[in-house]
Amino acid sequence: MANAALVVTGSLNMDFVVQVDRMPAPGETTLGSDFKMIPGGKGANQACAAGRLAREVAVKMVGRVGYDPFADHLKASLAAAGVDVSAVMAVRKQPTGVALIWVEKSGQNSIVVAPGANGELSAADIESVHSAYAGARCALFQLETPLQTVEAALRVAREAGATTILDPAPAQRLPESLLALVDILTPNESEACLLLGWEPRRIGLEEAPELAAALHALGPKAVILKLGDAGCYYSGPEGIASAGGFSVTAVDTTAAGDTFNAAFAVAMSEGQAVREALRFANAAAAISVTRLGAQASIPSRSEVEDFLLARV
Ligand code: RIB
Repeated sequence: MANAALVVTGSLNMDFVVQVDRMPAPGETTLGSDFKMIPGGKGANQACAAGRLAREVAVKMVGRVGYDPFADHLKASLAAAGVDVSAVMAVRKQPTGVALIWVEKSGQNSIVVAPGANGELSAADIESVHSAYAGARCALFQLETPLQTVEAALRVAREAGATTILDPAPAQRLPESLLALVDILTPNESEACLLLGWEPRRIGLEEAPELAAALHALGPKAVILKLGDAGCYYSGPEGIASAGGFSVTAVDTTAAGDTFNAAFAVAMSEGQAVREALRFANAAAAISVTRLGAQASIPSRSEVEDFLLARV
């Protein structure tokens, strides 16, 4: 197994996407349009984005799929982005993960995930592919696989000397033992509030320092708050930095957060300073929301560079 500088551990899903005028109310049937199957899954989206955006770093995905045609399709999408899928393992007990996604005209979405094989990724699996983490500069995680697996993988990545980056999505409370293994925690507003047990609310840049301080107290060395249109805020060993969001017409926000995390990790792995890495990540995420779908919306390196050049 060849070593990669950036390792993503997490979910692979086939996304079933339908466009709707508005979200259905409970008990209601509505008509949507333009059904599409698009490769997704928070882990696979991060790996795909890292593969498309990386110039100097190799990317590897660790995860589980079923024995079905979706698995082949998802692995092919990652391989086409230059990702090493040799540590994506197949399991017979469960089908490949799927996500049902409704996208409104405003670009807002609702997502239900049936984890399937993602739920079978175990701490023993991580141990069986632990050499995949050797030499990694960055390791990326999310929460669509079992928490004990995420914690085991964080530990292996830490021991291998990688900077660990956790996207705490889907939002949930997390044990101290897991958060202690996180170098960079990257919540959006609702994820941050849930982690802290606060009422959900909009957070602007002026409130970001208070929120970041409360999150640091949970264990992570650095925090990046993803504040939507307001941009993002970093607090950590490199000091404090923020970057404004880019104004674009939203078509679909699916995978914007995944693209942000991967782009930030790529930029950091290539030696960019935090402020530049945040701007690069904001640009990649902004481009992704102008297109429908998860992996279908993730830009290439040259698209991000052109986007940034046009905004100097
Ligand atoms: O973050 C977006 C992703 O969440 C989708 O691709 C879907 O599969 C769910 O995992």
